[in-house]
Amino acid sequence: MQINDKSGVKTYLPNASRYNTMKYNRCGKSGVLIPAISLGLWHNFGFVDNLQNGRDIVRCAFDLGITHFDLANNYGPPFGSAEENFGTILKKDFKPYRDELFIASKAGYDMWPGPYGNLGSRKYLMASIDQSLQRMGLDYVDIFYHHRPDPDTPLEETMVALADIVRQGKALYVGISNYEPKETAMASKILKELKVPFILHQARYSIFDRWVEDGLLNTLETEGVGCIAFSPLAQGMLTNKYVNGIPEGSRAAKDQTYLAKSDVEQNIDRIKVLAAIADKRGQKLSQMAIAWLLNQPNVTSVLVGASSPKQLEENVGALAKLEFSDEELKLIRANS
Ligand SMILES: NC(=O)c1ccc[n+]([C@@H]2O[C@H](COP(=O)([O-])OP(=O)(O)OC[C@H]3O[C@@H](n4cnc5c(N)ncnc54)[C@H](OP(=O)(O)O)[C@@H]3O)[C@@H](O)[C@H]2O)c1
Repeated sequence: MQINDKSGVKTYLPNASRYNTMKYNRCGKSGVLIPAISLGLWHNFGFVDNLQNGRDIVRCAFDLGITHFDLANNYGPPFGSAEENFGTILKKDFKPYRDELFIASKAGYDMWPGPYGNLGSRKYLMASIDQSLQRMGLDYVDIFYHHRPDPDTPLEETMVALADIVRQGKALYVGISNYEPKETAMASKILKELKVPFILHQARYSIFDRWVEDGLLNTLETEGVGCIAFSPLAQGMLTNKYVNGIPEGSRAAKDQTYLAKSDVEQNIDRIKVLAAIADKRGQKLSQMAIAWLLNQPNVTSVLVGASSPKQLEENVGALAKLEFSDEELKLIRANS
C-alpha cells in the first residue's frame, strides 16, 4: 500500500491485516517463529536489476505477512549489491518496522579476491559480517549462516567464529547451509557446547530434489533445528511458466549459469504431469510445490524467489490448500 503525504512524497504504509493469513512456524526448538513462506533475494535484487521492482516485491512480501528476508554477502550481481539494494529499501520503507523483520545473511562462497574472501575461516566470517551490516545499514542480522561447508578449515574454527558473531551482538541466531547430515550433527554439538542458538539449516529441497530425505531431515529433528527449503520451485521449473516453452526474460532464457534451457527440456514431461495434478487440485503448480514442502516433517519455511509481486502473491496462495490425498502424494512421488 502507498500513500502520498501533503508534500506529495510517496510513503509506504504496510497492509494493516498482514498478519491475518500467513502461518508462522517455530524454528526447531527455539523461541522464534518465521513465516511458512519466506523471500530470498538471490536473484532480481542486484545492481543489474530494476530497484523499483525489487522494492515492490519486498513491500508486497511484507503486506502478505512475510517477515523473513534471506540475503548473502555475494547476492547480486555484482557481489554485495543485493544487500546494498535491500539496505536502500529498508531505509526508505521499513525503518519503523525493523522489529517486525527477521533478516538473514551468509558467508561461505567466493566474495573478494585473495585468500581471506571465501570458505570458512574466522578471518573471512568476521570481516564478512561487518561488510554485510554496513551494506544493509543494520546493527545486527537476525540470523547469520555459514553458507557451505569448508573441507579445509576445522569445523570448530568456523563454529566459534559464528558464536563470537552472536556474542558481539552482530547476529541473534546462527544457521548453516548445504552441510551433509554428519557435519550438521558435529556443528550442532559444538554450537550446543558454546550455548549458541543454532536454529536453521538452509537446504535445497523441492519435489525434484529430495536429497534431504536421505538423513538430513532426521538429523535436524534429533538436533532440534528447523529446515528452511531453498529453490523450492526448482528455480521456476515447478511453476506453470515453462509448460508451453521457455518464455523470454525467464531465468532459463537469460541465466544459463544456474538454470539451463536443457534442464527445462529434460524435465518438461514431469512438469506437465505435475501441472495437471495441481490443476485438478485447483492450484497452480507453484502453489502445489510449496504446499507439498510444507507437508514434509520439520520443514519450517519454504524460501521462494520471485521476479515480480504477482509471482509472490501466487506463491503465497499455496496456503489456501495445504492438504493432499494419498493418491495425489503417490502421483507426485512418481513424478519427482
Ligand atoms: N543457501 C544456498 O546455498 C542457497 C542457494 C540458492 C538459493 N538460496 C536462497 O533461496 C532463495 C530462493 O531460491 P530460488 O530463487 O532458486 O527459488 P525458486 O523459488 O525455486 O525460484 C525462483 C524463481 O522462479 C520463478 N518463479 C517464482 N514464482 C513463480 C511463479 N509463481 N510463476 C512463475 N515463475 C515463478 C522466478 O524466476 P523468473 O526469473 O524466471 O521469473 C523466480 O525468480 C534465494 O533467493 C536464496 O535466498 C540459497
